[in-house]
Formats: sequence, C-alpha cells, structure tokens
Amino acid sequence: MDPKLIYPRKLDHHTVYLKNVVWGPNIVIDDFTFYNDFEKDPRDFQKNNILYHYPINGEFLIMGKYCSIACGAKFIFTSGNHNPDSLANFPFPIFFKEWNLVPGRIQEAWDNKGDIVIGNDVWIGYHATIMQGVTIGDGAIVGARAVVTKDVPPYAIVGGVPARILKYRFDESTRKKLLVLKWWDWDPEKIKANLPYLTKGILEKLPQY
Ligand SMILES: CC(C)(COP(=O)(O)OP(=O)(O)OC[C@H]1O[C@@H](n2cnc3c(N)ncnc32)[C@H](O)[C@@H]1OP(=O)(O)O)[C@@H](O)C(=O)NCCC(=O)NCCS
Repeated sequence: MDPKLIYPRKLDHHTVYLKNVVWGPNIVIDDFTFYNDFEKDPRDFQKNNILYHYPINGEFLIMGKYCSIACGAKFIFTSGNHNPDSLANFPFPIFFKEWNLVPGRIQEAWDNKGDIVIGNDVWIGYHATIMQGVTIGDGAIVGARAVVTKDVPPYAIVGGVPARILKYRFDESTRKKLLVLKWWDWDPEKIKANLPYLTKGILEKLPQY
C-alpha cells in the first residue's frame, strides 16, 4: 500500500490516486482516494472534473480517504453562477474593461455557496455531478448521473436529479458504530489485517467491537 503512487494498479493507466495528480490551489485530497477514467486521461482530473473553480472566491474541494470517484464525476463551483439578483444575466463585471467598471470586483458577477466537502470512503458514481457548497458524509454512495444539490448524510445512497435519498446502506445503529470506528483512520496494516471482517460486514469482529 503506497498512497504516493500515481497508478496503484501498475498496468492500469485509467486509475490514479487523486492526491498525486492535482496541484491545487484550494484542493485537498487525502490518501487512497482514487479516480477511474476510461474516456479521458485521469491525470487531467483537475482540468476536466473540477469546474469553475477560479481562485477568486477561495472555495475548497476537500475529499477524505479511500473515496472511489467514477469516470466523469464532476464538481461544479460557484464561479460559474451568474448573480441571480442582477436584473441582467449577462456578467458585466467580468468584462470590466469594455464596460468601464472597477476592476477586481468580478466576484460581483456570481454568488458563493462555499466548499465542496466529500467525507471518507464515499463512492461517487459514473458522471455524477456534485454542486457547490455540498457536503457528502462518510460512507455515502452517489448513484450514476445524480446531480447532488444538498448535503448527503453518512451512509446514505442518493440518486436522481436533483439527488434524493434512495435508502441507507445500514440500519441506524450500524451507521453510528461505523462512524465511531472510523476504519479509514487506521494504519493501513491494521486495515489489511481486518479486511476479511471489513469487506464481509462482520462488524463485531473488528477491533473495537
Ligand atoms: C445508486 C445505486 C448504487 C443503487 O443500487 P442498488 O442499491 O442496487 O439499488 P436498486 O437498483 O435496488 O434501486 C433502488 C431504487 O433506486 C433507484 N435508482 C437506482 N440507481 C439510481 C440512480 N443512479 N439514479 C436514480 N435512481 C436510482 C431505482 O430505480 C430504485 O427505485 P425504486 O425503489 O423506486 O424502484 C446504483 O444504481 C448506481 O447508480 N450505482 C453506480 C454505478 C456506477 O456509476 N458505477 C461506476 C463504476 S465504479
């Protein structure tokens, strides 16, 4: 287990550990979170998948550990939102020179809904879109082609446009235990030793239970 690798599956150049192919600014991705792209070069994730993330509003894209990001998933930031309070949709402040406006106030052309925060062990499906200001809880699943406009609770499965909760992966008691367990913070060697229990859902055999 080497989170510093770009290609963790040696001969598979469609799959990368994301933290090793993004360079920021305002992008923080933790260990083992991977991206698979068979349509474009996955190393171009920052250019192709993190959209309208201009260094003006200062929003962050934050992703925890062990997330699985499927091909074409997109993260759309506020800098693309033309200010709905303006009587004109046309973003005049962006073209400040032409319209003789004060430069440096181009953020007045759009609103700011804040960071996108993805928890740990989140699975985001094919061509799903995560909108500005959304937080997705640990262990959640975002269905293929969902458009997520609101926060997603831990271990929920969401889908559709706009995304709604379809169900939860586990009952409430199990969800609470998993959120205390936080297996993703364990040393990788400890995870390795407990993989049979983790992957087969045998919670009571895991170290804290
Ligand atoms: C969301 C998902 C995980 C649900 O899978 P599941 O637990 O087997 O759920 P089911 O197929 O039993 O569907 C449950 C309900 O959710 C709906 N649903 C399933 N996937 C959906 C999606 N992507 N968007 C909207 N609704 C969806 C179903 O129509 C069904 O609705 P109903 O209860 O009204 O009949 C799965 O459908 C999905 O989208 N997986 C992502 C696949 C992918 O992108 N893989 C990329 C490679 S990693």
